[in-house]
Amino acid sequence: MSYSYQIKTQAEYDAAWKKSTENPGQFWAEIAAQFYWRKKWDIALDWNFAEPHVRWFLGGKLNITENCLDRHLADKANQPAIIWEPNNPEEAHRVLTYKQLHDKVCQFAHVLRNNGVKKGDRVCIYMGMIPELAVAVLACARVGAIHSVIFGGFSAQSIADRLIDAQAEFIITCDGAYRGAKDIPLKGVIDDALIGCRFVKKVIVFTRTRTPVSMIKGRDVWWEDEIRKVETQGLHEFEAEEMNSEDPLFILYTSGSTGKPKGVVHACAGYMIYTNYTFVNVFQYKPGDVHFCTADVGWITGHSYIVYGPLSAGATSLMFEGVPTWPDAGRFWEIVEKYKVNVLYTAPTAIRSLMGFGTGPIEGRDLSSLRVLGTVGEPINEEAWQWYFKHIGKEKCPIVDTWWQTETGGILISNLAGVTPAKAAFATLPLPGVDPVLVDENGKIIEGNNVSGNLCIRQPWPSIIRTTWGDHERCRVNYFATYPNLYFTGDGALRDENGMYRITGRVDDVLNVSGHRIGTAEVENALNMHAGVVESAVVGYPHDIKGQGIYAYIVYTGEHETEENLTRQDILQTVTRVIGAIAKPDKIQFVSGLPKTRSGKIMRRILRKIAEGELENIGDTSTLLDPAVVEEIKNGKL
Ligand code: WTA
Repeated sequence: MSYSYQIKTQAEYDAAWKKSTENPGQFWAEIAAQFYWRKKWDIALDWNFAEPHVRWFLGGKLNITENCLDRHLADKANQPAIIWEPNNPEEAHRVLTYKQLHDKVCQFAHVLRNNGVKKGDRVCIYMGMIPELAVAVLACARVGAIHSVIFGGFSAQSIADRLIDAQAEFIITCDGAYRGAKDIPLKGVIDDALIGCRFVKKVIVFTRTRTPVSMIKGRDVWWEDEIRKVETQGLHEFEAEEMNSEDPLFILYTSGSTGKPKGVVHACAGYMIYTNYTFVNVFQYKPGDVHFCTADVGWITGHSYIVYGPLSAGATSLMFEGVPTWPDAGRFWEIVEKYKVNVLYTAPTAIRSLMGFGTGPIEGRDLSSLRVLGTVGEPINEEAWQWYFKHIGKEKCPIVDTWWQTETGGILISNLAGVTPAKAAFATLPLPGVDPVLVDENGKIIEGNNVSGNLCIRQPWPSIIRTTWGDHERCRVNYFATYPNLYFTGDGALRDENGMYRITGRVDDVLNVSGHRIGTAEVENALNMHAGVVESAVVGYPHDIKGQGIYAYIVYTGEHETEENLTRQDILQTVTRVIGAIAKPDKIQFVSGLPKTRSGKIMRRILRKIAEGELENIGDTSTLLDPAVVEEIKNGKL
């Protein structure tokens, strides 16, 4: 299938952008018309950002899986939909054609129905990166259940918090997951999470690692047994549930400025159309492309550019179970060569960490199939950009630096590979449908070029966040209340002399560690749970590989003078328990007090400067309750 809405020239981009911002409803309706609908919509767009209230394709009925699977069966039944590369290169890889994926999704949809899952139910998916994860996600969508995938690195406590928030009664997991040299006991973590979640009715467990697990009678069932039941029942095709355009497709939890993660809700139709459109345009999809997005499906990037974007376009999506550096740092290049990957989409963190191994692991690898390179998740520094361009793309592949967020569903700012210009370390220009503005602290829109400010978006695109699960007010306050009539991204950006955007990073208390979003308040909550911690403050600091590292200042009462490092280990263990290893601080400095204003507010600006090593330009400390504490902290800097 080729897509009439694929932009081929700068002039077409200019025209599309203009049209999309002048009349978004009409622009997107023409694109939406090229999808498979059970019933066409009545109203393309109805919105106001005050509530916020955003509805796309109202009155339309569809099922996203019919667009991702069924509609490709006519001409792509035998084309690979998913190629799966296991963690261990010695193990056989797997290929699922569109027909096979369709059949597996139908089968598992029957399993879900047999186990009581109905339209609108929340299903938590906590699995490793195996094809069955994609099958589980799509089967939920097929029955109309709302999936909520949780990244395999989150702790039992984090899972429990999310299960409670979503009131998820069903869980799909694995006995374990392989990641590099590690073997993660997923089912064991789920069991711990479920101690306080009695409302969970069913846990479906797929066998991956053969790690011993405990199966609770009446609650836990094996995926394989349930499939056998469906087979003996003679069930094959599963008639997809008819969904309204605005029915929720999934919830994905993400960190914000408060201690509690928010459940970002995306709706069926708008999400489908926008992820497809951006996939086709940003990566300049060509039929037959092998698309390798290295993200985990536990994050939005995996949802949009491993599962829904590529599959709705009929592409071949490569799913990799492992990590870039195990068994060695040549893993990505081996995979590119093995499957003749055309598009490689990864995170700056991965690039920086691979850069550290030099070009040795690349030598002798045939990377000539690569046509487009992409990055996502965090700002890419110029050095990493140049390395990627030169050593991986051999100066022939355009790099798309794609800026977007869990809340935006798909890519909002990026060049279109080979069509619109790239610029190192710049996300460049907005996609059609996206109208970015920069505002100052007072909310005044900053016009002109060569300026910087807080990045906002002026009108809705189809995959904008609809609500935060169970708490619409939180959605309003977080994204739509800071600046009236604008969606506030939480990011700072600059606009160069040509109107191109460079994202400079978060302007709120959210860190971006290895491309993962982590709220400082969440980490502080976890730290404060440790018995000896009186108070803590967490800030980010520049980290060569992770982009940002986590720096924690801790007021500690316990007795640690002789065993400071042991205390640190204990504290890290607490964070691992409460959130997961991804949130562990890189540095812990014990302090006798934190710099506070007279009203008791922690002056993070000062702590940030110290963590960044800017000891000279701390700024004004005269409003502090106890300015002396700053000297002490400076002297103790790690
Ligand atoms: C950051 C990931 C600079 C940004 C898709 C955003 C980026 C946050 C880029 C969202 C980029 C993402 N350049 N920064 N190309 N892409 N970010 O929700 O701070 O995990 O707000 O979504 O990552 O992270 P999230």
